[in-house]
Formats: sequence, structure tokens, C-alpha cells
Amino acid sequence: MRIDTTTLLPVDELTAAVDGFLAASPVARGWDVETAFDWSAADANRLTEGQRSAVQFVTFIEDHLPGYFDVYHRSFPVDGSVDLPTFAHNRELYHFTVRWALEEDTHARALARYQCESGITERGTLRDELAIEGHKPFDLPYDHPVQFFAYALVQEKATQMYYHQLRDVVEDPVLTAVLSRLARDEARHFSFMADVTTRYLRTYGDAAVEPIRDVIANFRMPLSDTLRGYWRWALRIADVADYDHTAAYEHLLKVIDRAVDARTDRVDELAVFIAQCRALH
Ligand SMILES: [Fe+2]
Ligand SMILES: [Fe+2]
Repeated sequence: MRIDTTTLLPVDELTAAVDGFLAASPVARGWDVETAFDWSAADANRLTEGQRSAVQFVTFIEDHLPGYFDVYHRSFPVDGSVDLPTFAHNRELYHFTVRWALEEDTHARALARYQCESGITERGTLRDELAIEGHKPFDLPYDHPVQFFAYALVQEKATQMYYHQLRDVVEDPVLTAVLSRLARDEARHFSFMADVTTRYLRTYGDAAVEPIRDVIANFRMPLSDTLRGYWRWALRIADVADYDHTAAYEHLLKVIDRAVDARTDRVDELAVFIAQCRALH
């Protein structure tokens, strides 16, 4: 573990954010892969080549969940390797991560099921392909805890936007329904990350701004370094749905602006930097 635990959010602040997320996610409003969709009607013949690719691409991204989940375990351990106050903090966070992981695992299963039922691929083939990418390592090299949440904020928002764009162009109603469910979940995940990031900024002010700047400066979408042909994929699907993390930066900036009462020089500088990253893209 590399995190400097003296910079963790006070446990009551984190708990309030986790409680808020769980209150916004009642089981009664949840859904499952088995009953939420009319799988027998799924038909990939209604999709363009680009749209099929877009579904295949994001299945890889969602299916890497064990790698993402493990980052939280390594960075926020829930065992004897940390002192008691850190454990108390991490245990509260775990209430979020375990629920979040269940939802992301459901996304992976829904997309895989769609691929098989619609005729894009066959189950064994897909399983083998996912395994090749899934067993590659994933890590986030951060030392300040706010960085994990700022990174996920951008990531969740980028994914939500991707599902929205794709949903608006596909003509298979089953896929439309799947993408609507996924987009709604990602919006809730984004809200949690935004809430936690806000609480860090309110608690630590400028001291939390610099680590967030580092996240933007070194931002890599998950799997962009490991997924075979990642950039070719990204190009092939760009006219279908843009998987563009820089589009999510303005949402991060909005979160920062709302969190601070008055913009400091640090925040101003970050705003300029984010605008430059957008322009460069
Ligand atoms: Fe997801
Ligand atoms: Fe998500």
C-alpha cells in the first residue's frame, strides 16, 4: 500500500458519501441480467459493423472488473496491515466497493450475454478472448487517496456518455434497453465519486487540488496500455460513440467549482490546465 493515510477523508465524511450512494441504490430499483431483458429478441443484424465493434470493445473494459476491484483492496486494505483508524475508514469504503463491484460485474455479464444472444459471437469464443485481456495486470499508481476518486469520476462519466451516445444510434431495442440500464448505473457511480471528491476538496482545499491535477496530467483510460489493438478499436468506433475521457473533464471542473467557495490560484491554474487538455484532444 502506497497511500499516505494522513490524507484520508475523515471517516464520518466518507460514511456520509457511502450512505448516500446506498440510499440512492435500493435493491428494489436494481435489475439483473436474467430477467431484465427479452434476450430472445436480441438481433445483431440490426447493428452496423461499427456498433458491433463498440459493444465488443466496451465488453472488454467492463469485464476487467477483477483488476479494478483489486486496486481498491490493495490501496484501501481491510485487514491487519493497517492501523485501526485506517481500517475503520477502509471498512466503510468497502460497503461501497463491494456493491459497486456487483453492479459492474452485472454490466460485464449483460454485455457478454447480449453478444451471445444477438449472434455477435459464441460463448466459448468470447470467454477465451476475455480471459486473454482479463489476466493482464491493472494498476493505478497513486499515493493520495483523492486521486482514486477523481480518476473514477472521469472514468464513470466517460463511460456513461459512451453508453448514451451508443444507445441513441443503435436499432436493436434489446441493446437500447441494456445501454439505458448501464448508463443509469454509471450516472450513480459518477455521483458517488463526485461526492467523495467534493468532500476531499472541502476538507483539504488546495492540498487536494494538486493531486487531482496529477490525475489529469497522467490520465490513461483503463486497458489503453494493455488491450490488444486499443487505439485501432478507438478509431474504429469513434464515429459510433466517442470513448473520450477529456469530455468528462468539464464535469470534474464543475465538481471542483461547486466544492470551493472562492477559486484559489491553484484551482484557477487547474481550470486552465483542463481547458488545455480538452483543446489538445
Ligand atoms: Fe459499468
Ligand atoms: Fe460504473
